[in-house]
Amino acid sequence: MRELSFTSLLDVHKGLQELFLQHQEALLDCDLVCATERLEEFERRLLRHIWEEETLLLPVYERAGAIPGGPPVLFTGEHKRMRELLEGFEQALASLAKRPDNRKRGILRLLDRQATFKNLMEHHDQRETNILYPALDRVTPETERREILSRCGAWRR
Ligand SMILES: [Fe+2]
Ligand SMILES: [Fe+2]
Repeated sequence: MRELSFTSLLDVHKGLQELFLQHQEALLDCDLVCATERLEEFERRLLRHIWEEETLLLPVYERAGAIPGGPPVLFTGEHKRMRELLEGFEQALASLAKRPDNRKRGILRLLDRQATFKNLMEHHDQRETNILYPALDRVTPETERREILSRCGAWRR
């Protein structure tokens, strides 16, 4: 059996990426109702994941000491930036829904703005893959890892 690792949380990242693409597919179809529903679901899941990382993981990560390229404030700062960008998308979607004229141009503008967000998500995924999750594996015994990961996944079951 493979040893339990925090890198199993990368599945959450993959699920989030997929849901965001589905939201963008709905935008391409000009289906704003569906695009909004998918964005709301994306936000719900992202906020939950961020909560888990900030409440359950980062306090344990502090045990690893100072790691170049990985101070905790970098992770929380990126989380904050993601939340801000998402809020902007929701507002843009709401105003698009109110104005049927020039809808396609509005959708294009939104997709352009979302490119920045996708870059940030990818960058953040890399940082957690290369720094946060491996460090957590190093500083935790198997039993503790199991306990924390089961708390992280409890809401998905
Ligand atoms: Fe994450
Ligand atoms: Fe994160």
